[in-house]
Amino acid sequence: MMDSAGSTTGFGHGKVILLGEHAVVFGQPAVAAGIRAGVRAHVSPGSGGLSAPAWGLEAQVGDDSLPGQAVQRLLERLNADGNSLDFWLESEVPARAGLGSSAAMAVAIARAVAARTGAGEADVAAASGAAESVFHRTPSGIDAAAASRGRLGKFDKQDGWQDLPLKTPIELCIGLSGQSHDTGALVAGVADLCANTPVARRLIDTMGELARAGMDALAAGDITALARLFNMAHGLLSGVGVSTPVLDDLVHIARAAGALGAKLTGAGGGGAVIALAAEHGDEVLRRWRAKGYYGFTTTIGHD
Ligand code: MEV
Repeated sequence: MMDSAGSTTGFGHGKVILLGEHAVVFGQPAVAAGIRAGVRAHVSPGSGGLSAPAWGLEAQVGDDSLPGQAVQRLLERLNADGNSLDFWLESEVPARAGLGSSAAMAVAIARAVAARTGAGEADVAAASGAAESVFHRTPSGIDAAAASRGRLGKFDKQDGWQDLPLKTPIELCIGLSGQSHDTGALVAGVADLCANTPVARRLIDTMGELARAGMDALAAGDITALARLFNMAHGLLSGVGVSTPVLDDLVHIARAAGALGAKLTGAGGGGAVIALAAEHGDEVLRRWRAKGYYGFTTTIGHD
C-alpha cells in the first residue's frame, strides 16, 4: 500500500540452509528456512538512488556496482522505471554473511515495487531470481525462495519450494565468522572440483541424502538425529573445500559448549555457522563471544 508520501514498502527474510547447500545446485534437495530477521525496502519517487546504510551501500540503479546492476535487472523484469524511484533499505542481516542478504534485498525491493505496479508474487519471484543471477551467477533459487516464504521448507531445482511442517519450533544458534564471501566463486569452485574429481561428485549426492534424512528427522521432531546430520554435513562441506579455519573454529566451539550438532550454513568460505544447542544455547553464544565472534539465536517455525 502507498503511504501519503508516495512510498511503498516490502520485506524479504534472511535465510539459513539447514542441509543441502551446494548439493542443491546439482539438483539435490535442500532444507532451508526464512528467519525473522530480514531486509525492509522503502521505495519512493526519486532518481534511481539505492542506499542501505547498515551495509555502507550507496549506489545508483544501473551503475557498475553489483547491487546497482541487480536492481536494474529486477526492475526490467517488473517493467518499472528505476530512474524515477529511490530505494532505501533497512537491514537486520549482515551483507555477504551466508544469511541470504542479497536475496532478502531482492525480494524486499521486488515486493515494494509490486505494491506500486500491481505485479503478483510470480513476477516478484522471477524478478528476485533475475537479481540473484547478477549476484551469484548460477543460483539454484533456494535463497530467493526462502527469502519470500520466511518459513521452513524443502527446495529442489525441479519442483521449487515446498513448505515443511514442523512438530515444534526449533531454536538455532547462528555464529558469524566476520569474513565475507563470494557465493558465485564458491559454487564455481565446487563445480570445478566435481568435474575433475569424480568422488567429490559422490559427496554431493551424499549431501542430498543427508537433506532427505533431515526431512525425516524434522517430521519426527527428532532434534538429536537432525544435529548428527549437521555434523556429517559440515564434514562433507569441508571435504569439498568450502569451510575455513574460522568456520571450523565456530563449529568446534559450539560442540564443546554442548551443542548437539553444528555446521556451516550457505555457501561457506566465510559467512555463518548454525548450531542446534537445546539448553546450551546461552553457553554457545557466551563462548563464541569470548573468542570475539558475534552470535545470536533464531527460532524456526515461529508462526
Ligand atoms: C547459497 O546460499 C546456497 C548455495 O547452494 C548456492 C545456491 O544454491 O544458489 C551455495
